[in-house]
Amino acid sequence: MDRFPAEFREMLSPVGRRVLDGKLTLRAEPFLARPDLLAPAKAKAAFALLERALGPVVKPMERTIPPESILNQTRNYQERLPKTVRVRTADLDASRGKARDAARVTGLEAMLLSPSFRDFAEALAGRKLTRGFGRQALRYGPGDYSGPHTDHHPEDPGAKDGYFDLHLSFVGGGATRQLLVYAKDGHLSETVHVAVPGLVSAYRLPFWHYTTPLEGKASAARWLILGTFYFL
Ligand SMILES: [Fe+2]
Repeated sequence: MDRFPAEFREMLSPVGRRVLDGKLTLRAEPFLARPDLLAPAKAKAAFALLERALGPVVKPMERTIPPESILNQTRNYQERLPKTVRVRTADLDASRGKARDAARVTGLEAMLLSPSFRDFAEALAGRKLTRGFGRQALRYGPGDYSGPHTDHHPEDPGAKDGYFDLHLSFVGGGATRQLLVYAKDGHLSETVHVAVPGLVSAYRLPFWHYTTPLEGKASAARWLILGTFYFL
């Protein structure tokens, strides 16, 4: 595969198309992950295409545990942990740059802007979503993770009361395990395997979640293509 299809619909499996066409109801309440919504051969080809085209242009994003979360503390259990993360990322919304060029050349940008991508997100959200949204690509390598966070954006008028994320996950290179852990009833108790080929996940944010370090061979990788939508 040299290019992503112009319409996201072409990436979908028969089950995924039933969701898009309103014949099967699946809802992110607040989270959903399904390995059967993308066509397996296309998901595999997408991984290879992302490695080739976006692999050379993603940039490291790293936020470590602040030393002062232990140093200078005066009371027991006083610690506070901001979001920590280690991953490589490409902002596909940048006005220019190599990542944006790669997204254009591969057709990724057009696919993420295609009506069927938003229609699919609306089907999983069960609500109308705005046309304008954000796009991002992440590449988790071995040991890469994201620490507990909420993705709450109270300073953004369009997102302060919640918003919707649709994620496409493509794995390869000997990736064996990565978990998404999320909160239910006030506990970080729910786990989902996300190092699964062609996983679709959807989030009605904000809620607490984190991603464990990617396990596997030195060549292991998990690509995550994110589309962010406001509720209409
Ligand atoms: Fe997140």
